[in-house]
Formats: sequence, structure tokens, C-alpha cells
Amino acid sequence: MRTPKNILVTGGCGFIGSNFIRYLLARKDFTGRIVNLDALTYAGNPQSLADLAETHPDRYRFVHGDICDEAVVKRTFDEHAVDTVVHFAAESHVDRSISGPAAFIRTNLVGTFTLLEAARAAWKTRTDVLFHHISTDEVYGSLGPTGRFLETTAYDPRSPYSASKAGSDHLVSAYHHTYGLPVTISNCSNNFGPYQFPEKLIPLMILNLGEGKPLPVYGDGGNVRDWLHVADHCAAIGEIIARGRAGETYNIGGNNEWKNIDIVHLLCDILAEQTGKRKEEYTKLITFVADRPGHDRRYAIDCGKIERELGWRPTPDFRALLTATVRWYLDNPAWIASVRTGEYRRWLDTHYGAR
Ligand SMILES: NC(=O)c1ccc[n+]([C@@H]2O[C@H](COP(=O)([O-])OP(=O)(O)OC[C@H]3O[C@@H](n4cnc5c(N)ncnc54)[C@H](O)[C@@H]3O)[C@@H](O)[C@H]2O)c1
Repeated sequence: MRTPKNILVTGGCGFIGSNFIRYLLARKDFTGRIVNLDALTYAGNPQSLADLAETHPDRYRFVHGDICDEAVVKRTFDEHAVDTVVHFAAESHVDRSISGPAAFIRTNLVGTFTLLEAARAAWKTRTDVLFHHISTDEVYGSLGPTGRFLETTAYDPRSPYSASKAGSDHLVSAYHHTYGLPVTISNCSNNFGPYQFPEKLIPLMILNLGEGKPLPVYGDGGNVRDWLHVADHCAAIGEIIARGRAGETYNIGGNNEWKNIDIVHLLCDILAEQTGKRKEEYTKLITFVADRPGHDRRYAIDCGKIERELGWRPTPDFRALLTATVRWYLDNPAWIASVRTGEYRRWLDTHYGAR
């Protein structure tokens, strides 16, 4: 059982990173400190953690910096005596990787390499340390109607995003085999929950539903994804950094497959329930748009390994979790206003027409 003292979280101002920092600070058995290294790209929102400087002044630090910047990364390791890395920072949106792959190669590959080198230099032969790398089920490629991804499934990435994540997974694994660096990797399915940047399916649909705007659905809406609540994901990472075996990969999923179009209908249903309007007021907004190039048809995760080895399980009641997520977006207009500026607005206008 490891008890991390000084955790470097990269990309902590993003969706999952900010939830993870809140999760850690809320755990009674974690008394260590967290340093959050984030470049604040369009997806990084300091508002997501704005209260922590006051509530946890001794245990939480923010460093504004780029994971590709060798000097900043080295200084962060040294100044904060980092013994654990939880590496979230990435360019994370598949659509953006199709229109502009360069940033994905830089952050996801060069950034991960820069962190690994800093860890290797700082930790040398220490074995009480851990580099945990967060990755995606998209590295495994696309499934037919049956079957699930196992940790042993061969990689077959199809987009610049998933290829860059696959490359970073291989680098992390190679640092374990070549240099003996204690590493773990987790590959998870689609996350949902609070603080998610509204370019991703669920928050985009919730905000458009709230504003009576079109609900863009790719292709025939038949693409299948597994959905994992971000709190369950954070708990799984918590188990891995405490008890995961060095050199291992753990798949994390929600046992919760949905077609995109069915998720959109479920959201319409929940909105109708929450607002008292007729469901048809919402479903009439559904707009099928040209499919994403190379759109993988189905992803499904077998998370039996983490269930067996670490006793982790996802929360089963999807409708209740999704309803709570809808409520969070409806109840937090200030957070939404803080992300709906600048680049996000421009990106939305380019893709779905100025509004
Ligand atoms: N969101 C999901 O459903 C999902 C699913 C599977 C895997 N993942 C993986 O989980 C991780 C976190 O995803 P997310 O949805 O929270 O991402 P996000 O896009 O919400 O946040 C990414 C964060 O990384 C920061 N960042 C980007 N480039 C950086 C750089 N060069 N240096 C420092 N910081 C930088 C951004 O400012 C932002 O705060 C990613 O590695 C992603 O590949 C996410």
C-alpha cells in the first residue's frame, strides 16, 4: 500500500484533473500535498478549482506551465519533492485532432516524454514512487457488435488523438521496461460529470437543450460508447496509485454502453422531467450532421481486472448519475459563462455556424 506525500497532477484545470484534485482533498486518509501543473489551454479552467487556494492553502499549489517545458517540469519535481505523478494533461478532443493534429503530437507525446525524463532524473532507482498515466479506450480501435477491450487487446488507434495517446502509453511502458521506472497506466471509457468542457457530447447537449439550440448528432447516431461517471473514474485512479502493481495497465469502464442517439433521447427525457416541458420540445432539436471521418463504431471496456485486483466497481444507476449531472450544469451558470468565452465560442461557431 503506497501513501503518496507529494502528488504532481498534470492538467488539473481540465475536466477529470479538477475532479481528481477535489476527490483527493476530500479523502480523509490522504494528508499529502498536491501540485497542479497546467498550461491553461482553451480546455483548462482555473475557475474549476478557484476555492482551493483558500480552503487548502497548505496542501494545494497551482503552477502555470507547459509539460513540454523541460525547465518548468524539472523545477516542479525538485521544489515540490514529487513522489507520485498523475498525468492527465493532454489535448483530448478527437474532432480537434482531425483539424489540427500538431498540438496533439506535441502535448501528448513530447509532453509525456518530458515528464518521464524528469521523473527518471529525479527518482533514479527509487521504488517508493509512481508515475500514473491516464489514457483512453480509443487506443484499442473500433469493435463490432460484440466483444470488449481487455488490457491485452492489441492497439489499433484510428484518429490522430488516439494515435498520440497510444504513443504516450508505449513510452510510459517502455520507461518501465527499459529504466525500471515504477509506472501504471489506465485506459478508460467516456467520462461524464461536472466541470466538463462543453465541446464534449453530454455537456454540449445539456447546454444546447437549455438554450433551445440544435442538438448535433454525428451520422446515424448509432455509434456506441461506454459511459463512466468521473467520480467513479477518480476513485479507480485513487485505488491504482495506492495499490496498483508497477508495470500494469488497468481498464476502467462503466459497464454502461449506449448509442449516442439514445443518450440524446435520455437527456431530452431528463430535461423534460426537470423543467416540466414536453419531451417533444427537446427532441425536435435533434439534428443529424455529417459523420466524423474515421468515426469508430463501438467501444466497450472489460474492467474485470481492476474489479478483481483492487475491488473497484462503477456505480450502477446511470439515469440518476446523469440527472445529477444535468442539475449541475443547470445550477452552475457562472462556471459555464467562464468557459464559454474565447476559443470555445470561436470553435463552436466554426463547426455549427455562428449563433
Ligand atoms: N474526458 C474523457 O472522457 C476521457 C476519456 C478517456 C481518457 N481521457 C484522458 O484523460 C485525460 C484528461 O482528460 P480531460 O477530459 O480532463 O481533458 P481536458 O481537455 O478537459 O483537460 C486537459 C487539461 O490539460 C491541460 N493541458 C493541455 N496541454 C497542456 C500542456 N502542454 N501542458 C500542461 N497542461 C496542458 C489543459 O489546460 C487542461 O486543463 C486526458 O489524458 C485524456 O486523454 C479522457
